[in-house]
Amino acid sequence: MVSNQKLQKWIDEMAAMCQPDSIEICDGSKAEYDRMIKIALDSGLATKLNENKLPGSVLFRSDPSDVARVENRTYIASKTKDAAGPTNNWIDPEELKSTMKGLYKGCMKGRTMYVIPFSMGPIGSDIAKIGVEITDSPYVVANMHIMTRVGTKVLETLGEDGEFIPCLHSVGKPLAEGESDGGKWPCAPLDKKYISHFPEERTIWSYGSGYGGNALLGKKCLALRIASVIARDEGWLAEHMLILGITNPQGVKKYIAAAFPSACGKTNLAMLIPTVPGWKVETIGDDIAWMKFGKDGRLYAINPEAGFFGVAPGTSMDSNPNAMKTINRDTIYTNVALTEDKDVWWEGIGYDAPGKLIDWNGNEWDAKTAEKPAAHPNARFTAPAKNCPSIAPEWEDPAGVPISAFLFGGRRPSTVPLVHQSFSWNHGVFLGSIVGSEITAAALDLKVGTVRRDPFAMLPFCGYHMGDYFAHWINIAKKTSADKLPKIFYVNWFRKSAEGKFLWPGYGENSRVLKWIFERTEGTGSAVETAIGYLPTVDAIDTEGLKVSKEDMEEMLKVKNDEWLKEVESIKEHYTKFGDRLPKELKEELAALEARLKK
Ligand code: GTP
Ligand code: SPV
Ligand code: MN
Repeated sequence: MVSNQKLQKWIDEMAAMCQPDSIEICDGSKAEYDRMIKIALDSGLATKLNENKLPGSVLFRSDPSDVARVENRTYIASKTKDAAGPTNNWIDPEELKSTMKGLYKGCMKGRTMYVIPFSMGPIGSDIAKIGVEITDSPYVVANMHIMTRVGTKVLETLGEDGEFIPCLHSVGKPLAEGESDGGKWPCAPLDKKYISHFPEERTIWSYGSGYGGNALLGKKCLALRIASVIARDEGWLAEHMLILGITNPQGVKKYIAAAFPSACGKTNLAMLIPTVPGWKVETIGDDIAWMKFGKDGRLYAINPEAGFFGVAPGTSMDSNPNAMKTINRDTIYTNVALTEDKDVWWEGIGYDAPGKLIDWNGNEWDAKTAEKPAAHPNARFTAPAKNCPSIAPEWEDPAGVPISAFLFGGRRPSTVPLVHQSFSWNHGVFLGSIVGSEITAAALDLKVGTVRRDPFAMLPFCGYHMGDYFAHWINIAKKTSADKLPKIFYVNWFRKSAEGKFLWPGYGENSRVLKWIFERTEGTGSAVETAIGYLPTVDAIDTEGLKVSKEDMEEMLKVKNDEWLKEVESIKEHYTKFGDRLPKELKEELAALEARLKK
């Protein structure tokens, strides 16, 4: 029994529908975590990793059909289709509930139903929100332990009549009498998967997938899709942004939040080790930011999560040593490759595969003959934020940290320079609205490599009409004075040469760009005015010790009018989707950009 009446009633109803063999209320303890892992190990679903190399860590291999978010099975079931807008999949909520009730009926037979009370944000912070996830997956329970704050304290905070966001999850694979998973990752076929959001009710129903954002419902479902709706109603921001602290050699510390689409470098930037002497970067969060205005009129951000669910491939001691040091213990790995001595390996880990491997499909893998990668491109690690060497001491401050700059960015092989700054807030909102990126492996059903618009990196995560979301960003500025607002920048680490090579070394070297951004927020740092915004003067980026030719540097800081006029046409096409819900301020920004380019 739980003391919150509404919660008990919901648990009873869901149990009656899903018909689990038993029900457990999670307490968030270490013993509970260990028990979940033991269940997975005993059933053959997980492999214990080398205790000397990776203490307390395990490897899971998911079903090949269940390796990433499924955007075409993700629904915003608002009362009207218009409320969900042109960028979301919509099904009438009554119809969707009826379909899903059919699937949920008896779906937990042969399994335990776990009830996970969790807090997004430090428990008790007035920006934090409480959710309760019901799931039949021990993998989800263990991951939620790392990614959120789980347990008895949350129930105490909830009290007898506190509000929570109900999140129902099932892997969608009931077991017959005496049947077991037999070491196979349980999930439902693609056409039975539903990741559903009911924004007016503030409820989440997920069915058929056990992976990442589809199943860890505190993350994209609650902290972005549902929270973005709440934030719109209450006048704050719920964003797909990392948060970092940056300190200059004089000891002045500022905070930056950055929105890049999935698998475009948030975790890496958040944990960056500066190559510029004397500068320090610390991590507050790597994926999600919730921001509210403080009494002083500035925007304060918290990281609602408690762990990192990060992309493994490409993570190495060279590219992201802080991540490597975070994931060398107490980590859940999913879909990476396994070495003979029970260590992990993936493409881009920084050294060749040490002998034969077991790939993410569970098959033998030999570098000499392999045709496919050993790790899935969206293989991930789940690790506690507190294990990160660069975590900021204030990362759990319930008041949050004051943001001085917003960065937008994505993978753009051409057109977009290394960095530029907006002329104004509205121009900055325009830059957010036109974020575009080459598609990555973070979603299952998209064509990798093609450029798509991903406004504010929120395309798959905004819980309402994207045109209204743009208007919310325009309007939020009216809550304070212009000098208190973060300055807005657009960065592109991914510009390529004619030969298809990255022009910019990226990773730690991105600190050179952060330094310029820091200086711009101080009112120093020299810039030239161009048609698209302020760009650093050739010598404004600190290039001391940087191995980039002067020509490449110039190329990366070039604004080519012909390319940008093509970009304008592409933005016009992108904007037509939003019809009369596109704020007039953004139409004006686009017209002004075109006029400046044609001058
Ligand atoms: P999500 O967790 O999906 O939201 O992704 P993310 O935005 O946190 O991306 P992440 O930092 O995990 O980076 C994804 C991939 O981009 C990795 O393979 C990185 O190696 C690569 N990457 C990150 N930063 C840079 C960079 O500065 N330059 C280049 N070339 N690649 C980068
Ligand atoms: C993303 O795809 O942006 C992620 C991974 O951060 S997931 O949690 O699966 O959404
Ligand atoms: Mn993400």
